[in-house]
Amino acid sequence: MTIANPLPLFRDALPAGRVIDDPDLIAPWTSDWRGKYHGAAAAILSPRNVEEVSAILRIAAAHGIALVPQGGNSSMVGGATPPADGKALILSLRAMNAIRSIDADANLAVCEAGVILQTLHEAVEAAGRRFPLTLGAKGVATVGGLISTNAGGTQVLRHGPMRAQVEGLEAVWPNGSILNGLAALKKDNRGYDLKQVLIGAEGTIGVITAASLRLVPTIASRTVFWAGVASTAQALALLRHLEEALGEAVEGFEILSDEIVDVVLSEVPGTRKPIASPAPWHVLVEAVTADPGDADALRARVEAALADALEKDRLTDATIASSEGQADAFWRIRESVSSSEKAKGPAMQYDISVPVGAMPAFMIDAARACEGHFPGSTAQSYGHLGDGNIHFHVRPPRDPADRGAHWIAEQGEAVSRFVNDLVAAAGGSISAEHGIGQMKVAELARLASPAHLVGLRAIKGAFDPGGIMNPGKLVPPAP
Ligand code: LAC
Ligand code: ZN
Repeated sequence: MTIANPLPLFRDALPAGRVIDDPDLIAPWTSDWRGKYHGAAAAILSPRNVEEVSAILRIAAAHGIALVPQGGNSSMVGGATPPADGKALILSLRAMNAIRSIDADANLAVCEAGVILQTLHEAVEAAGRRFPLTLGAKGVATVGGLISTNAGGTQVLRHGPMRAQVEGLEAVWPNGSILNGLAALKKDNRGYDLKQVLIGAEGTIGVITAASLRLVPTIASRTVFWAGVASTAQALALLRHLEEALGEAVEGFEILSDEIVDVVLSEVPGTRKPIASPAPWHVLVEAVTADPGDADALRARVEAALADALEKDRLTDATIASSEGQADAFWRIRESVSSSEKAKGPAMQYDISVPVGAMPAFMIDAARACEGHFPGSTAQSYGHLGDGNIHFHVRPPRDPADRGAHWIAEQGEAVSRFVNDLVAAAGGSISAEHGIGQMKVAELARLASPAHLVGLRAIKGAFDPGGIMNPGKLVPPAP
């Protein structure tokens, strides 16, 4: 049974300050960061510990009150934006931001869901370790959201996505029971791996409140370079060449179209193209070593690998960063793509994967097909080529009046179907790393196999029978 005003229930059960109903404080959290989705919520619930989360969920379940778990609100797919009907409350994990422990010997950090990724990076670095997952939104994205979306980023090539970093979880099921699974057990065969079910669940079956995360040795030295390549196929050939020459030292390998680089240069003051000669495609590569005695040797190996690659026609130009500052400047270009693209105006964005070997041709063929089918549009891609995952953006025809918003309103769904059909035909995924959120629910329903949908709905129904957790996200409703 739903009740008209649920806020007194939460106020009575929680210490002061946990129920925020000031509209000015709520407003920034009811839209997604791209400004594509606008929801409404009467309050933000802001628990400070797992018992308070449990109390909130018990009340919500008893009264059928929908909750939208939220961390840094940097979802790319509207995954943390409340529905527009205003019936759901936001459950913010941001105040649960303690790093409970860092054990350098065990290579483990235990931190709460609201810890910001960059804060975690800095804390473990001070302890002589590194948390190996990073991405452009590191200054706002939180551990809970990163786990709930199984976030990827630029180091997946070497270290895997968030799923590979989580050793244990503390979480609360919708009935309020607390899953105490923070112990990092090498072996644990007590049946279904509940941790893995929660990772990537987008807050639809429970609330992650803390995690044990895997740490790796600190980087002693890195060699970062920027290369120009003539084609996407040459880019993949370069990656294979580098893996052969440098092995596991290759941590990141990102591709950007020349047009995407230009977008960043036009939006971010002080940026410039790292290579002198023109190139249709660019790659940014980071090679690392954890051994302080290996720094010079690593750079020499990279130089030799690049000289060999040039000879074998696997790149057209390259610049090795001559300092940490220059390496940061190279990465700044890559990490500014999302914000720069946003500043350029509305576009349709896809986060797609196909088998790695098929990606070079897919990038070219899909762009050509899309531009042919939607005259005046332009399609660009960039991202994590080595993971078989790119971000494919379709920009509307130039329209100074509204920057293409009208075109998107009219054509956007057709563009999505067109692009996603290409992905499906290539045996790929319509969400490689950003999740489904609310943006892709309809397309997931259209394209997922019946067996996939049966599985998703069974899990959702089993854990969240009342349907209170993050309604409208991830799981397509049964027809
Ligand atoms: C990136 C985000 C959009 O790779 O996933 O920049
Ligand atoms: Zn990405």
